Amino acid sequence: MSNNGFMRLEQVTKNYKDPASDIYFQALRGIDLKIKKGTLSSIIGPSGAGKSTLLNIMGGMTKPSTGTIIIDELAVHSLDESGLNYYRRNVAGFLWQLPERNLLPHLTARENILYSMEVAGTAREERETRVKELMTSVGLGARMDHKLGQLSGGEAQRCSLAVALANNPKLLLADEPTGELDSETTIEIISYLQELNREQGTTIIVVTHDQRFERMTGQSYNILDGTIAGLRRSIDRDKEIKDWRSSQREEISVVNQFGQVKIPNRIRKKYKITEYVRFVEDLESKRVYLEPVDHE
Ligand SMILES: Nc1ncnc2c1ncn2[C@@H]1O[C@H](COP(=O)(O)OP(=O)(O)O)[C@@H](O)[C@H]1O
Ligand SMILES: [Mg+2]
Repeated sequence: MSNNGFMRLEQVTKNYKDPASDIYFQALRGIDLKIKKGTLSSIIGPSGAGKSTLLNIMGGMTKPSTGTIIIDELAVHSLDESGLNYYRRNVAGFLWQLPERNLLPHLTARENILYSMEVAGTAREERETRVKELMTSVGLGARMDHKLGQLSGGEAQRCSLAVALANNPKLLLADEPTGELDSETTIEIISYLQELNREQGTTIIVVTHDQRFERMTGQSYNILDGTIAGLRRSIDRDKEIKDWRSSQREEISVVNQFGQVKIPNRIRKKYKITEYVRFVEDLESKRVYLEPVDHE
């Protein structure tokens, strides 16, 4: 793997068995994905597309049915229970949609953050210093001693972010982190993620159905029916970008192991590509063109 190749997924599948009928359902149908270190990516798709399944597999919470998952040089797909524990405590951090899943309700914001460091085995003195830093960086300084029930949705999610970051994870995985938030608070959380990515170099992956993430992240993958069909990314993604919204984007498609390509809907509509296409080679320019064909 190249130096900045941080994560590599090859042909990852996940089958679930329906207990009633005993029939297998393929939630992931061969995911290939490479994510570079220090990038901010989103994986966007509708409900049922396989987003949570994929994220849980990346986080070492769920075993894939088949496939290879290399993250930070660890073969996550073949780690045993103690390897997985190490990975979940020291490499990956999680941010879930529901604050109830991130925070213990009987503990204050501060205690929640301290608790997650304690679980990871951080020394006491370090915990005290780090908790202050974290509370300040997510802008919760004044709400330190409030419990989950006393925090607004946005505050609870910022506190959850602090909990997820307590162990300095190299990788932050977020599942619909703004699903329960209003527009303004959503933008606020996205801004925190961008800042974290820029300033600490944390590799961040957000899965969501929220299309707004597309322009807020360096690259956004499109997941549909358990496969990654394509991605949109900033053309000048190697430059340091302060505002992704104003960056120029390109849309590219994945060629899967069978040689199949998904033609983006926009292109299909615009050029009236319906059932068949012909590949027209232009030898001079070494380009291949797609041409709609009327089969009849
Ligand atoms: N534990 C499970 N058992 C059986 N089916 C599941 C399980 N988890 C998810 N699924 C099914 O797999 C598909 C993908 O689910 P999920 O990954 O949660 O999608 P998303 O997060 O994109 O909504 C859905 O059809 C869902 O019903
Ligand atoms: Mg989900």
